Amino acid sequence: MDKFWKFAKSTQDDAYKIDFDDSDFVTVAVPHDYAIDGPFAEENDKQFEKIVADGINKPMVHVGRTGGLPITDWAWYRKEFFVDAATKNVFLEFDGIMSNSTVYVNGIKVGGHIYGYTSFCVDATSACNFGATNLVAVSVRPEGHASRWYTGAGIYRNVRLVQKGDAYFPYQAIFVRPTVRGKRAEIDFDINIIAAEEYILEVEICDQSNNIVASQKFISNKAKFSGQIALDNYHLWEVLNAYLYTFTAKLHVKGKNSDTTATKFGIRTIKYDANKGLFINDKYIKLNGVCMHHDLGAIGAAVNISAIRRQLEKLIDIGTNAIRFSHNPPSPEYLDMCDEYGLLTMDEAFDEWELHKLKNSYAKHFKQEAIADMTAMVCRDRNHPSVLMWSIGNEILEQKLIYGWKYAKFFNDICHAHDYTRPTTAGFNNTETAFINGLTAEVDIVGVNYKPHQYDRFHQIYPDAVLYGSETASALSSRGHYYFPVKYPSIAPNAPDLQASSYDLLGRPWSYYPEREFFVQKKYKYLLGEFVWTGFDYLGEPSPYHSDWPSRSSYFGIYDLAGLKKDRAYAYMSAWTNKKFVHVLPHWNWNEGDVIDIHCYTHAHAAELFVNGVSHGIQHKDENDELLSNRLIWTDIVFAPGQIMVVADDGLSTTIKTAEAPAKLRVTAETASIAATGDDFAYFEVDVLDAAGNICPHANTRVVFSVSGGEYVASDAGDATSTRIFAQPYCEAFHGKLIAIAKSSDAGRLTLTASADGLASDSCSIDVVSLEV
Ligand code: GAL
Repeated sequence: MDKFWKFAKSTQDDAYKIDFDDSDFVTVAVPHDYAIDGPFAEENDKQFEKIVADGINKPMVHVGRTGGLPITDWAWYRKEFFVDAATKNVFLEFDGIMSNSTVYVNGIKVGGHIYGYTSFCVDATSACNFGATNLVAVSVRPEGHASRWYTGAGIYRNVRLVQKGDAYFPYQAIFVRPTVRGKRAEIDFDINIIAAEEYILEVEICDQSNNIVASQKFISNKAKFSGQIALDNYHLWEVLNAYLYTFTAKLHVKGKNSDTTATKFGIRTIKYDANKGLFINDKYIKLNGVCMHHDLGAIGAAVNISAIRRQLEKLIDIGTNAIRFSHNPPSPEYLDMCDEYGLLTMDEAFDEWELHKLKNSYAKHFKQEAIADMTAMVCRDRNHPSVLMWSIGNEILEQKLIYGWKYAKFFNDICHAHDYTRPTTAGFNNTETAFINGLTAEVDIVGVNYKPHQYDRFHQIYPDAVLYGSETASALSSRGHYYFPVKYPSIAPNAPDLQASSYDLLGRPWSYYPEREFFVQKKYKYLLGEFVWTGFDYLGEPSPYHSDWPSRSSYFGIYDLAGLKKDRAYAYMSAWTNKKFVHVLPHWNWNEGDVIDIHCYTHAHAAELFVNGVSHGIQHKDENDELLSNRLIWTDIVFAPGQIMVVADDGLSTTIKTAEAPAKLRVTAETASIAATGDDFAYFEVDVLDAAGNICPHANTRVVFSVSGGEYVASDAGDATSTRIFAQPYCEAFHGKLIAIAKSSDAGRLTLTASADGLASDSCSIDVVSLEV
């Protein structure tokens, strides 16, 4: 159900009718985010709210808090679909609609869903005509003052039409639970079955190469069949080395196959201990995790596998092994890919329970929806080996209630009722209070937000609590942007250009530089690890510029919104990987006589700085100092044009030269080829260079794109203050760089050409491969 939806933004209330005139609707494909097309405007979801967690206890004006995009517009989607004559039951499965949706089939209301992040299934049988064309109409009515970040808007995840006979597997029928017993793995399973009579259930397990490695048949008439099937030799699903099996169930009634369903799963064990830490498959592991909101930068919230894959590969590149989906369940595709890459995940249900963070936020619907939404998350995602734990909430205000533990127990029990194989957790920011009010005792693992210096105190006072950093750092930076003099460390100033310095020493009152967390994680083996706020910049929450338009996206990312590495990426790379590299900041284009501090992230223990050939000494990492445990610093270096070179103690070096005026563009592709599917995105990086090939670090050149052999999609440079619509075929470079996205439905070559006034243009071509054999 992905193509040929008719769409319009509209506040009309009669577009559900069959004879409604939709001739002025446009044709779109889903997943579709209608807010990303803009325009950006200060008035879009302008909020007057307090932010208790930020110490803003009186309401204030927030612009750009949800991205400055029109996420509160209302819309309709309509689509015709055919139902086969032999069908007996018709379902529409929605992975997520943002938000407050109502679903009609042939003019009859068949369902709807409030929360934009949970999946749901609508039984459309009674409204359908069989052997005929039917019409589904979906109304989307998001509210303002409802979110702390960009939500996107519309049918932004996948939709499936499911046609079944009399006997069938209902929505999300299978729950698979592998248990490792030495060399043998026992796969317990529950399967829901709708059948009026006795049936044969055939169960099959295929390995990753699609060979059947186990199969069994059962005769039954039960609505829920529970059984077990064993594997004598098996591959473990390991962190960053995944192995996936497929579990297939076939339903036979009266000798005929009535239905088939399948799920992927992996075999792995989880153990955790308040003193010893976390073990996956009996191997000790630290969570080198990042928090991620769901938007995909320039393409918005619409699910796209290639964009998700790109995010994950970039995160793995810096050593990430875990993702926290903050603060809501992700798309099923995101979890599928984490399964594939061997990334551990935290699946989180809510940012609120009954107490409001905003006027129209989830708390408004809590009583009516929360049980169903929590259940929907667990029942949809419990077969994913990547899911390490269920989070029942983030910075929930009920932490402060003396009876807050009752809510925690309630949600913990729901998770365990549907899945007893995984631990529960929550992100506690009022951690002390949450301990006192008993919420922490109701979850299996205690997430601590932003308290690196208190872990050990909590550990001493509550020795049974299993602890980790559910949210850490929240460092702020704009890629390639530096302010002097460098402050060590301090609260981010509200700079007039609405950017943040890339020395990664500045933050909000609760935040801190990355090394502080590295330091304690290394020191205390019992800590399970951390989830950095955030892996990528995201649309919305432009803290600290709450009321300073046009700031409209976050500065917290390790990568910027375009997916380009900030300096901070190298801080994580040195702490989380064994890669050998020398990364030096800032760039070397300043005014004669400026006094500059030079920082270096590297695997090496020590390195020497040379400015125009003159040594400025060797700096050593200092394991006893938080900041210097992971970076080398040379202060008060007087700028003179030329070059800086940092040479590590093993000889590896990096040189940065003073760039001359911009002379040319360089286009490079991030991937060698894409599939000719029309939704496999090719990402190109465009750099503004001087004649000698140095990146021009101050260049904000407008670059114009043209594409042959495909279509241009969007571009971005990671500037949090840009109000250019991402789909415009041009983009201003930010600190000499930007990215452009293109796609193609035709096999052949895709070429992106970038040009700019007065500069030599450049092109880059990649293969577009047909998936058909
Ligand atoms: C946390 C919150 C996140 C985000 C972050 C910014 O307190 O859980 O959603 O707002 O602060 O630092």
